[in-house]
Amino acid sequence: MASLFDSVPYTPPDAIFELTKTYNADPSPQKVNLGQGTYKDEDGRPWILPAVAAAKEKVRSANHEYLPILGLAEFRARALELLFGGDADVTKQRRVASCQALSGTGALHTAGTMLYRAAQVGKETIPTVYITNPSWSNHRQVFESIGFPVREFNYTAADNSGVDMDSLTETLTQAPPHSILVFHASAHNPSGWDPTVEQWKTIGKIVKDRNLFPIFDAAYLGMTSGNFNTDAWTLRYFINDLNTEAAVCISFAKSMGLYGERIGLCAFVTSSRTTATAVESTLAQLIRVEISNPPAFGARVVAAVLGNEDIRAEWARNLVTMSGRIKGMREALYEGLVELGTPGKWKRITEQKGMFCILGLSLEAVSHLREKYHIYMADSSRVSIAGLNPGNVRYVAECIDKTVREKQARQ
Ligand SMILES: Cc1ncc(COP(=O)(O)O)c(C=O)c1O
Repeated sequence: MASLFDSVPYTPPDAIFELTKTYNADPSPQKVNLGQGTYKDEDGRPWILPAVAAAKEKVRSANHEYLPILGLAEFRARALELLFGGDADVTKQRRVASCQALSGTGALHTAGTMLYRAAQVGKETIPTVYITNPSWSNHRQVFESIGFPVREFNYTAADNSGVDMDSLTETLTQAPPHSILVFHASAHNPSGWDPTVEQWKTIGKIVKDRNLFPIFDAAYLGMTSGNFNTDAWTLRYFINDLNTEAAVCISFAKSMGLYGERIGLCAFVTSSRTTATAVESTLAQLIRVEISNPPAFGARVVAAVLGNEDIRAEWARNLVTMSGRIKGMREALYEGLVELGTPGKWKRITEQKGMFCILGLSLEAVSHLREKYHIYMADSSRVSIAGLNPGNVRYVAECIDKTVREKQARQ
């Protein structure tokens, strides 16, 4: 008898999660996971931030009642203050609609669903969502699954020397008004290249002049430079200085190490308090039909970190530790390759920022590293620098060196 599922096609598994699965099953003591972007300490272990450990103590006697539909009020207020700054006009004028979200991915999905709803209510044609090329592997499918057409704009220069401003500005200048642009607020994944302040100003002018709608995917704020305010400069420039409407999707997965707690915030900065009220009422309905109300634990932890002066100061130090370790590992890998005289251009490893770096290796080299040396990285040769530590970085450099040379010898 025919089944309801007969027409369901097989969907291949997510490449990065699959890579982690293969890595976990690999019995080799030498194995190195440079795939998934999760911070690990000097010994390669998950790190519970001391600030988070202290916050957990504060919330340990909390009950297990439902949260409000839009999330924990204290978490939302603290997260908005963190994002825009204490005395931001947008907050004082109550022009922000927000809801707690299921980490960064959930925040992006909620933002997209809200924007899709807005376009339908306004009876406009559905706007195109523009994502960077390359981008985080989930961006396209998040927005396509909602129903948006998704286009890419060239982001990284062909020789991987930085942001391709010519191509980027050309695409944005041609994008129809109300097009949606997904920007990485800091530490672009996967390229590691962020626009400079001047380049952001050029992009901001186009966004403003052409009435485009930016979504800031803020998954790494604080982890890039080690200072949250420094990393939040771009989104604050658009929102506080250029006065654009925008969405901000912040994740606390990386910056507080709360990966599995799925805690984030989706915020819409609008042009008026009335609009913000309407948008927030819609967000409440979207949440109600999807999950009824969000999970409590992560929200309580983040609120306790941000709401306590001492714990917040500890978190600031923890951000310096994480970003400093990542920078240190970039240098160690670069120096290792230079010392070995490995053929290729490696300087970008230290020039790029954040958790990721594309090494520029062929798929063949990536597979070789995986099969022969148990070093796991994405097919694009994107490496998560946080997977390196003093105990494995030399091994990784040596194996890259051998792989590159073996390939040269075969040519
Ligand atoms: C650019 C970017 N955005 C969003 C996310 C979402 O992460 P999460 O849903 O775990 O907060 C990630 C995670 O890797 C990311 O790299």
